[in-house]
Formats: sequence, structure tokens, C-alpha cells
Amino acid sequence: SDITDRVDKMLLLFATGNKHKVSEASAILSHLGYEVEPLLIREKAPELIEPQAEGIEEVAISKIKQARELVMGTELEDSVLLAEDSGLFIDSLGGFPGPYSSYVESTLGLSGVLKLMSAESERGAEFRAVTAVCTGRRVITATGICRGQISGEISGEMGFGYDPIFIPDDGDGRTCGEMHSSEKSSISHRGRALKAVSELLNLPSK
Ligand code: IMP
Repeated sequence: SDITDRVDKMLLLFATGNKHKVSEASAILSHLGYEVEPLLIREKAPELIEPQAEGIEEVAISKIKQARELVMGTELEDSVLLAEDSGLFIDSLGGFPGPYSSYVESTLGLSGVLKLMSAESERGAEFRAVTAVCTGRRVITATGICRGQISGEISGEMGFGYDPIFIPDDGDGRTCGEMHSSEKSSISHRGRALKAVSELLNLPSK
């Protein structure tokens, strides 16, 4: 019931400005006994620096350390923090845009990426997410991967980012942009990374 939910769920504060990431993480983790809220510092999502030219694992660890610094000495000091770095890695482009995914999304856009791929028959790609959780005593990370194909055209209005041009191999041929968030999350990189991190959180700490 409502009351036991409130008592039993561990609260995770997600350090991100991406509302889509928060709502996906919230839905995924609520089934696993966690509640997710955005981390707000003076009522705003903190702007974390993303060291470029690093792998997404290094970026995720950097983000969780920055978030930890921001809450130290505040009333949120004892909170459990969550951070994520993710991206789209296209096989035929040598893993591009990878760590540059959000920059490329806002500059080339989805149509620009499709243009880069227009003469390419090898369309394999993967979404990757590295999730980091900081409990104060320890930082835990986990990776989730979702294999798929880059579609020929933009399709679907759900989700965010590259969802309308990504057809997951574990789906039925629709893009993630054509899937409801629960369908997407059951096979997504984010769903997989968050499930893995929740299992690690449940293990007794060393
Ligand atoms: P981050 O905030 O540096 O982790 O940027 C991740 C970027 O990768 C986003 O801005 C999107 O462009 C892309 N991305 C990550 N996860 C997803 C997803 O689930 N769907 C679509 N695009 C994603």
C-alpha cells in the first residue's frame, strides 16, 4: 500500500537536467523498491561538467563525484546519489557519436546523422549507459547496452534523443520513438544499467 511504499523505498537523487532520463529511471526503479527524484541544488538541476574525449564510464564517475561535492555540507549530504552518462555508438562510424551524442544531437540533429549514414548498408549501432550510484561510503557503477539498427527515416514521437532513428534488435521492428516508455525500458541500455546497479546496491557492502 501507499504507506509501506513510502517507508520501504530508498530515495535516489538523480543528478541530471534531462527530464526524460529521470522519468524513465523513476519507472524502472520503482518496481525494484527505489524512488527517484531529480537532484536539485537551490531549486535547479546542477550543471555538471562532462570531460570530453573520455569514455562514458569516466564521465559517469566524474558526474557522480561532482554531485557528491555539491551536496557535501548541505542538508542533502546523506542522500544516495545517481548519475548517468550515455550515448549512441554507430558501428560503421567507428562508434561515433559516442560520448559526443548530446552535442551531435543538437548540432547535426537526427537528419544529419541519417545523412551521414545514407550510403551505408551496415547500420548496426548500440545505445550504452553507465550508471553510477554514490551511497556516501562507496560508488557503484554498472553498464547497460542495447543493440540495434539505425533506421532509414525518422519515426515516432515518444522518448527523446535518438529514439526515433534507433530500432532495437530485441524489439519488433519499431523505433524506440514508436514505443511506450515501459516497452523501451524493458530492453533499453538505461533499463539494463539501472537493474544491474540495483542488484549491486542490494549486495552487502564490503
Ligand atoms: P548525456 O547526458 O551526456 O548522457 O547524453 C546522452 C545523449 O545520448 C542524449 O542527449 C541523447 O542524445 C543520447 N541518448 C542517451 N540515451 C538515450 C536514449 O535512451 N534514447 C535516445 N537517445 C539517448
